[in-house]
Amino acid sequence: MPNRRFLFLLGSSRSEGNSELLARRAAEQLPAEVEQEWISLTEHPLPEFADLRHDTDHVRPTGGDAGLLLDATLAATDLVIVSPLYWYSVSAPTKRYLDHWSGWLRTPDIRFRDTMAGRTLWGVTALAHEEFEVADPLYGTLHHTAAYMRMRFGGVLLGNGSKPGDVLADTAALAQAKTFFAREAPVARFPYETGEPA
Ligand SMILES: Cc1cc2nc3c(=O)[nH]c(=O)nc-3n(C[C@H](O)[C@H](O)[C@H](O)COP(=O)(O)O)c2cc1C
Repeated sequence: MPNRRFLFLLGSSRSEGNSELLARRAAEQLPAEVEQEWISLTEHPLPEFADLRHDTDHVRPTGGDAGLLLDATLAATDLVIVSPLYWYSVSAPTKRYLDHWSGWLRTPDIRFRDTMAGRTLWGVTALAHEEFEVADPLYGTLHHTAAYMRMRFGGVLLGNGSKPGDVLADTAALAQAKTFFAREAPVARFPYETGEPA
């Protein structure tokens, strides 16, 4: 993995929760030369997203949490959304971060879509439900986001747990964490582009 830089975006509303624990287990397997940056979206809250797309160009944020998150995003070859399952989808801080992408797409000097194309989006998620198919909406959100951005998609590492630390008892998830970031991450395509079911 030469010259790879992983950005882990922590979307839980609590620190050291199950999603983060699982992501750290997966990250332990990354080669030492791979750079890692970890940013908590609750410690660096983005402002409410204001949709100015059809009024005026968005202005590149300089400084502040928006500037920090934009710069970190642009610098990453691999973006890992570490979000618990909240109401079957990503958490609100995670969703707000993704909403800001819509502004960054309209920020003239950063060519956000072209810059992100070919980079890889990953997900790591903890959920209380034992039947992981209830996380399909979260999976679809991340997969389709990658497809829209012409990014690669590495899939979502899922682990079971309710209270912090529970996920460490999910031996199947811990086993998958060992090889998660080594898997192939194909360029994401919308189902209508491939003719395959989602
Ligand atoms: C606001 C909220 C919504 C949740 N929604 C779901 C859900 O839809 N399905 C589910 O299985 N668990 C749900 N949970 C449980 C969390 O996914 C679970 O506790 C998980 O371990 C939290 O991850 P964390 O420790 O990384 O924060 C929810 C928890 C909260 C606080």
